[in-house]
Amino acid sequence: MRTQVCIIGAGPAGLLLGHMLRAERIECVVIERRTPEYVLGRIRAGVLEQVTVGLMERLGLDARLKAEGLPHAGFNLADGERLIRIDMADLTGGKQVVVYGQTELTRDLMAAGEERGLDVVYAAQGTALHEVEGDAPYVTFTKDGAQHRIDCRFIIGCDGFHGPSRRAIPPGAGTEYQRDYPFGWLGIMADVPPCNHELIYANHERGFALASMRSETRSRYYIDVPLTERVEDWPDECLWDELAIRLGPDAAAHITRGPALEKSIAPLRSYVFAPMRHGSLLLCGDAAHIVPPTGAKGLNLAASDVHYAAEALAGYFKRHDAGAIGAYSDKALARVWKSERFSWSLTRLMHRFPEDGPFERAMQVAELDYIATSRAAQTSIAENYVGLPV
Ligand code: FAD
Ligand code: DHB
Repeated sequence: MRTQVCIIGAGPAGLLLGHMLRAERIECVVIERRTPEYVLGRIRAGVLEQVTVGLMERLGLDARLKAEGLPHAGFNLADGERLIRIDMADLTGGKQVVVYGQTELTRDLMAAGEERGLDVVYAAQGTALHEVEGDAPYVTFTKDGAQHRIDCRFIIGCDGFHGPSRRAIPPGAGTEYQRDYPFGWLGIMADVPPCNHELIYANHERGFALASMRSETRSRYYIDVPLTERVEDWPDECLWDELAIRLGPDAAAHITRGPALEKSIAPLRSYVFAPMRHGSLLLCGDAAHIVPPTGAKGLNLAASDVHYAAEALAGYFKRHDAGAIGAYSDKALARVWKSERFSWSLTRLMHRFPEDGPFERAMQVAELDYIATSRAAQTSIAENYVGLPV
């Protein structure tokens, strides 16, 4: 089989890119290792920046997002004594974020894929990339026992952190920047009303907590836990008790408890692979970078990468612009590094690190106090949280 672009991975990055290329009449095929049901079963991000909402709008896929997504004009940092409200809309000239689950966004992209004839191969095994340095790369995989080969002009690696695309780049052709954190986030999803109408990120002496939501009737909460702990160590009631302590008495008074629909631990990591292109292979989303979840940037960065990749591919195929592909990595990385910085600094501010002493804690207190009393500091947080322009 021959196509112009072979996309590996049908997460948000791969599906968004597939739709954008289809809209530009650029041929593409998406190859996914899992089944559609498995992809939709993964509970992940929940906050969309305007850039991500804008992409769905341009594709005409924002009907449900508009109807069911919850626009948020502000969010809160809790420092044990008070809530510091970051009024995003006021501080950024009216910009907001939209609370809408990654699962729902993926569901919309999948449904539209079927309607619009996007070619997605699910349950593909043993996906491998070949000849990525030249201008005639190809991808092989097996499906239902049969071997397949797709010849193309470009391969786009949208296959997440553990996929084969980044590994197809020879050692020495790129640089890895990495920082691991000594804790993970334990998340719980439950069909109960949220404790607050806006998100609360809390730094409590017992650790971090986040109160989030998916809708007026579905809540999502997180606490940080040492990497040695397992989900089984946290029965629902213990987790609700811990959330009530860390989020503080005001929020605790409004927490409704309920059975967990899902509970899982995700490790925290900062990671960047640069450059994000090697020959005819472009990397997008988690395949190229990971941010710790504080700041809700992972999914949104995948969307902005896709924006730049679609622009580069349209330049190459539609305008015969030879430099378009070459410009991709620098453009994407400029935004990636700023989101890495923001996610890292909010993680640093809101978590108790085991290696921290009284000095580091005093720095957190001083910074939170500065944020509470400075419009300039709040503006900086707000403009990063709503998402920097593409
Ligand atoms: P992915 O969503 O990982 O999609 C990659 C796709 O490639 C997957 O469908 C995978 O099955 C497929 N694939 C992998 N290997 C192969 C192969 N060999 N062949 C074919 N296909 C393959 N971000 C936030 O902002 N907030 C959060 O709360 C949050 N929570 C998270 C929790 C977890 C457990 C994880 C892993 C991530 C979380 N993230 C969160 C990050 C966010 O979900 C990701 O940044 C986002 O999913 C990136 O999208 P993507 O399409 O690049 O990668
Ligand atoms: C959610 C996740 C995040 O990482 C975040 O910063 C805010 C909200 C969520 O899953 O709702």
